[in-house]
Amino acid sequence: MDDVQKGFDLPRVVIMGVLIIGSMVTAVGATTIAADLPQQANAMSARVFTAAQARAGKAAYESSCGLCHRAGLQGRTGAPGELPDVNTLPANMLQTIDQSGGQVPPLAGASFMTKWGGKSTKEFAQRVASAVGAFPPKGKDDDTYLLLTAYFLKMNGGKAGVTALTAQTDVPLTVVTGR
Ligand code: HEC
Repeated sequence: MDDVQKGFDLPRVVIMGVLIIGSMVTAVGATTIAADLPQQANAMSARVFTAAQARAGKAAYESSCGLCHRAGLQGRTGAPGELPDVNTLPANMLQTIDQSGGQVPPLAGASFMTKWGGKSTKEFAQRVASAVGAFPPKGKDDDTYLLLTAYFLKMNGGKAGVTALTAQTDVPLTVVTGR
């Protein structure tokens, strides 16, 4: 009987060992994944503009674009009470807004990202450049459109880094904003 008893004990010890080691491996694996998560989140949002660019872009925005696209970049729907009041804007701006039925598209937020998220920073910067041509901000120079683009990337969740945005920067917006 003793021998039979031993014969049953050995597999039980082995099974217990496998279970213990198995759960240890799982625990170590979970720890490794948890440690990797913040790094992956960082890696997912490429830093393609500097804080100085975004700051200068904000100033440029406020001197022109913001009058139509509004301080919060939310754009206009034509609803009464939207600030700044369209009737306080220069005649050429009022006319542009009238021509678009009172609508000005948002430059930040979910619907902006649905439209632009898959497009590249290069393509978006070119669209911004054409707006700069139409409504030049105060102190406009050759880089103003890049500064504005940096500001819009930041306002959509992008993080500033040490690398400046240039005309060659060509990364999908979602990769910059992480959204
Ligand atoms: C007079 C009001 C007005 C001003 C000022 C203005 N915009 Fe706009 N913007 C519009 C309207 C209206 C549209 C939509 C029609 C169109 O695409 O041209 C638009 C469209 C855009 C778009 C395309 C958005 C999209 O979802 O396709 C961008 C980008 C943009 N503007 C950026 C700017 C920037 C940058 C400035 C400042 C240099 C600026 N706008 C100044 C009225 C304005």
